[in-house]
Amino acid sequence: MIPQSKALYEIPLITPKSMTRVVAGCLFGRPHGDNLCMFSQPDLSFLPDSPCYLNGEIGPLREARISVLDRGFIFGDGVYEVVPVYGGRPFRLEQHLARLSRSLDEIRIPNPHDAAGWRALIEQLVQANAAHQGREARDIHQFVYLQISRGVAPRDHAMPAGLAPTVFAMVQPLKPVPAAQRVSGVTCVSADDFRWEKAHIKSTSLLGAVLSRQISADVGATETVMFRQGFLSEASSSNVWVVVQGKVLGPPKDHLVLEGIRYGLMAELCQRQGLPFELRRISRAEVMAADELLLSSATKEVLAITTLDGRPVGHGPLAGKPGPIYAQLYEAYQLAKQAS
Ligand SMILES: Cc1ncc(COP(=O)(O)O)c(C=O)c1O
Repeated sequence: MIPQSKALYEIPLITPKSMTRVVAGCLFGRPHGDNLCMFSQPDLSFLPDSPCYLNGEIGPLREARISVLDRGFIFGDGVYEVVPVYGGRPFRLEQHLARLSRSLDEIRIPNPHDAAGWRALIEQLVQANAAHQGREARDIHQFVYLQISRGVAPRDHAMPAGLAPTVFAMVQPLKPVPAAQRVSGVTCVSADDFRWEKAHIKSTSLLGAVLSRQISADVGATETVMFRQGFLSEASSSNVWVVVQGKVLGPPKDHLVLEGIRYGLMAELCQRQGLPFELRRISRAEVMAADELLLSSATKEVLAITTLDGRPVGHGPLAGKPGPIYAQLYEAYQLAKQAS
């Protein structure tokens, strides 16, 4: 193993006059003394100063620093998780940690913590962030962002052996979905799914998702619903559900979609509500003719799509309005949160 401090912070800098070896020394604050620094530091005072975790230390988010040779920065060579925390209690943490472990295995990064270690880290950060806000964790909703990159090394596509992964976590306020979106649903547009074929890995290489999301952002829509070879995959950062004659349909859990933590939850909620639930390939024609369309994600929970590509979703008097299955699943979701 390369010792983390060396891997991260002893980066040789070439100055115009000479080669200077700069030892950074700390994870937070200026990475090296002003007198040695040839790079001006940007003004980061607009960033939150909430507590974050970086490689074993907790410090202010705006002061956290990593090397420019971190493979997460250079290649997007890392994975992440977003865990909602309601009233201080992480929701479905076990499932999030299991998915994190699957993502790490897929890209061959050793998991830096066991489940108990992750739980302790998250708990510590959630409490620290609540205290930072002068609140009790039980009184606020937050979400935890975890990211693990392969670590720092000279740039080379091949995976270097024995790197210490860079481990980062931050906590942010979890803003509720706006009331207007709950009442009226949201507008989405569709596009071809041009992302790579390993969408099941929750990878930080997100350019495909960024470009996809921008298609809807450009027209003021909430999400981009994607189709691969004429079949529904998912949205840029949500899963998509199709309601046909009282049945809830979702795309199969394969390498073309991220298995959202709400995949398992939707199956459970449907079972509790007595709603038929099926995962299978869903054609564009079925999506366009659906009775209801739903999005799900950690931050959106479950949300009705009421307009797709400018056309109202659904039929008759319910066209363009959130439907009864949405209402049922939304209620069931709130109960699941309270019971967690
Ligand atoms: C591509 C993609 N699909 C689905 C989801 C939903 O996953 P989850 O329910 O775990 O938030 C996300 C969440 O970020 C996502 O990025």
